[in-house]
Amino acid sequence: MPYARITGTGGFLPQRIVSNDDLAADLATRGVETSDAWIVERTGIRQRHIAEPGTKTSDLATRAARAALESAGVTAEAIDLIIVATSTPDFIFPSTACLVQANLGVGGAAAFDVQAVCSGFVYALATADAFIRAGRAHHALVIGAEVFSGILDWNDRRTCVLFGDGAGAVVLSASDEPGILAVRLNADGTQHHILCAAGNVVGGQVTGDPFLRMDGQAVFKLAVNSLTRSAREVCADAGIPVSSIDWMVPHQANIRILNFISRKLALPEEKLIVTLDRHANTSAASVPLALDVAWRDGRIRPGQTVLLQGVGGGFTWGSILVKI
Ligand code: ACO
Repeated sequence: MPYARITGTGGFLPQRIVSNDDLAADLATRGVETSDAWIVERTGIRQRHIAEPGTKTSDLATRAARAALESAGVTAEAIDLIIVATSTPDFIFPSTACLVQANLGVGGAAAFDVQAVCSGFVYALATADAFIRAGRAHHALVIGAEVFSGILDWNDRRTCVLFGDGAGAVVLSASDEPGILAVRLNADGTQHHILCAAGNVVGGQVTGDPFLRMDGQAVFKLAVNSLTRSAREVCADAGIPVSSIDWMVPHQANIRILNFISRKLALPEEKLIVTLDRHANTSAASVPLALDVAWRDGRIRPGQTVLLQGVGGGFTWGSILVKI
């Protein structure tokens, strides 16, 4: 049975950077009060990239995909599986993965979306790993991409300051050497209400509430507990101690969540890859974007062990242990 290895990474962020001060000034015109000091102290976020109106998730996903293909030295024609993790697809259907495939100018490969909100990339990577290990794919393009700015209620300061837009991607290729060492995916659907965008389109009309809503404190507690447990479980599955992890690339939601987890796991904070200060929370894009930053700046190197972790709406969470 072949193994699956990450052979390249890519990322793409919209050009427009909105600092906390810019955002506070903009929200003030709506009568919504916030400040750089509040956002930095409670979340660690300093800025976010926001897509221009009309930008589609498939646009960002395609840019990240091209960068990952180049990094891996794999042509688009060689890709036989495309999975896009997103909660902000271009359309109800077809899938964003099919639109990315068309943008890449190739046809034939299987292409579909995965919906697990901020855990989406980890779910998608686990799916691609299973395809490759079963011999059903040789080179998979796995993408997390979001235009979350489109589902935010800009009058709700408890949520709109937390998110940004972007896309990250990896190429996962069949290999004789182990790459993905162990996978844990979990969900607790009874907690679906603590983080949701509970709207839909029926008969051409929006029904329900299409904006993101969140019980921040409930999400905070569940995120810390589920990711701590999941990290221990995935390391036990791989037969390695948590202390042997070289880098942790967690979902980038809140620096306080990440600091709690690293303390509980006794992993030094220097082993955390943190991009939320610059990117904010880009949902399914956050893990591959952070991975791409650390891959390109040379922190993540061949032979190292990396823990990827996602957590988000559903409630969903998951961990993947990777040998680079
Ligand atoms: N600016 C200024 N004041 C604010 C803001 C803001 N942007 N947002 C909330 N406040 C106020 C509230 O109105 C409240 O004021 P009040 O006491 O007068 O009512 C006060 O700050 C405290 O509000 P809380 O919601 O209790 O603040 P908390 O300390 O819980 O921080 C936060 C909120 C940052 C959302 C926190 O709960 C959190 O980090 N939760 C984790 C959830 C998360 O990161 N979600 C991201 C998406 S989910 C995911 O990706 C897994």
